[in-house]
Parts: sequence; C-alpha cells; structure tokens
Amino acid sequence: MSSLRLGVNVDHVATLRQARYATMPESKNAEPDLLVAARICERAGAGGIVAHLRSDRRHIQDHDIERLRQNIMTKLNLEMGNTEEIIDIALRILPDEVCLVPEKREEITTEGGLDVLAQRKELEPTIRRLQVAGIRVSLFINPTLEEVDVAAELGVEMVELHTGKLANAFTEKIQKQELEQLRCAARAASESNLQVNAGHGINYKNISLIHQIPCLTELNIGHAIVSRAMWVGLETAVKEILEAMANYDE
Ligand code: PXP
Repeated sequence: MSSLRLGVNVDHVATLRQARYATMPESKNAEPDLLVAARICERAGAGGIVAHLRSDRRHIQDHDIERLRQNIMTKLNLEMGNTEEIIDIALRILPDEVCLVPEKREEITTEGGLDVLAQRKELEPTIRRLQVAGIRVSLFINPTLEEVDVAAELGVEMVELHTGKLANAFTEKIQKQELEQLRCAARAASESNLQVNAGHGINYKNISLIHQIPCLTELNIGHAIVSRAMWVGLETAVKEILEAMANYDE
C-alpha cells in the first residue's frame, strides 16, 4: 500500500449537479448526490474528502459542507478563501482541516498559490482563529523557499504545494525546472516540520512525476478522478489513482 494519502476533491460532482439544479436547490432528486460520491471515494480507499466552498457558490453549496461534515467517515478538508463569510461557516461547521487558497471570481479554477508574503498580516489572525477551534490549517502555496519560510513562520500545520505548473508544463525544460522547485520546497517544508501535501492538475499520466517529489504525505486530486469516473465509474477511478500512487518512496 502507498504511504501517500489521497484526498478526493468532489467539487466537480457538484459542478455537474449545479448544471441542472442550481435554480432548484431544495430538490430531493438533485443528481449526482455529493454524499453518495464521497462514500464511494471512501469505500475505494480515499483518506479524505476535499471541497472548495467558493464565495460565488458555483459548485459546492453550504448544505454540501454540512452533510459531508455530518456523514463522512474519513476527514473533511475545506478549501476556502480568506473571507469573513467563509471563515464564519468554517468555525460553525468545523471541518477537520482548512486549506486556505486564493480566490478570484473570474478564474475557472484556483490559478496560483496564495501570496503569503503579501498577505501574511491578513492570514495570521484567520489561521489562529481556525486553530483555536481545533482545525488543522494548510496554506496552498507556490513551491518557493520564501513561501515555505513564511508558511512556517505563520505556524500552520501543513502546506499544499501547487503542482499546476508542473502538470501543465509543455516543454521538458519547464517540467524539469518545476520539478526541481517542488523538490526543494518539499524538502524545506519537511525540515520546518510542516506536513507536505500537493495538488492541482495531478492526473493518471503525470502522477509518475509526482513520485519524484520527496516528503509528501497527501495528494489532493479532483478533476482527473471525476473525469475518469465517466468511463470506469467513481470507485474504479479512485482505485486506479491509488494504484498509481502506490510504492511512493519518500
Ligand atoms: N488542491 C487545491 C488547493 C485546489 O484548489 C484544487 C482545485 O480545486 C485541487 C487541489 C484539485 O485540483 P484538480 O481538480 O486539478 O485535481
């Protein structure tokens, strides 16, 4: 078995539901049911469920977070922007973990890591409030040594290294550079006693590159799994990615 844990991001199960049911939020027949998806992921071996409650509510809704919190067997990782409205929800619902991410309304998905250098003053009180409530906090950061240092100074438990640039690298040269950055950042974070997670754009093909990053504890993967599920079903899609994660050697 892999020593790497998988968090399945179920946002795009909700995207599909919202495509039909956004104007009928109370419908009992709203398909696909997010909780059924989460349970299948858990049954297939996922170590946690990840959901991003965006301020525009384009996919995950408040009631999704409540239902996941009450019903999943593993852990709930709430991805969220640093806004008062969403912080209040996190403090009420109490996910096991929060991953603070940047959020722009016009973006299709989270585009870059948090600018922890520029935002440390705004991040610090939020981190403390979440931690006092018993929530473990992660910062989604670009893989640079400066950002790892600031994350460590901010006293979070974890960082999630942004793998999007590696995933989208269109030349071998860029791929090599990105991999080297990720490797250095992962080592530095681990030396600062931070749990090191990674996510964004990881799929069945590029996961072999992820194996070259040391010190990882968890991968958070969404789009590739939900897409693959269309062909093979969600349970098999999760099992296949877990298989591809197996034999990770720190
Ligand atoms: N981790 C973070 C912080 C994210 O914002 C996302 C996208 O919502 C993911 C992981 C999952 O990315 P993907 O859907 O590309 O697998």
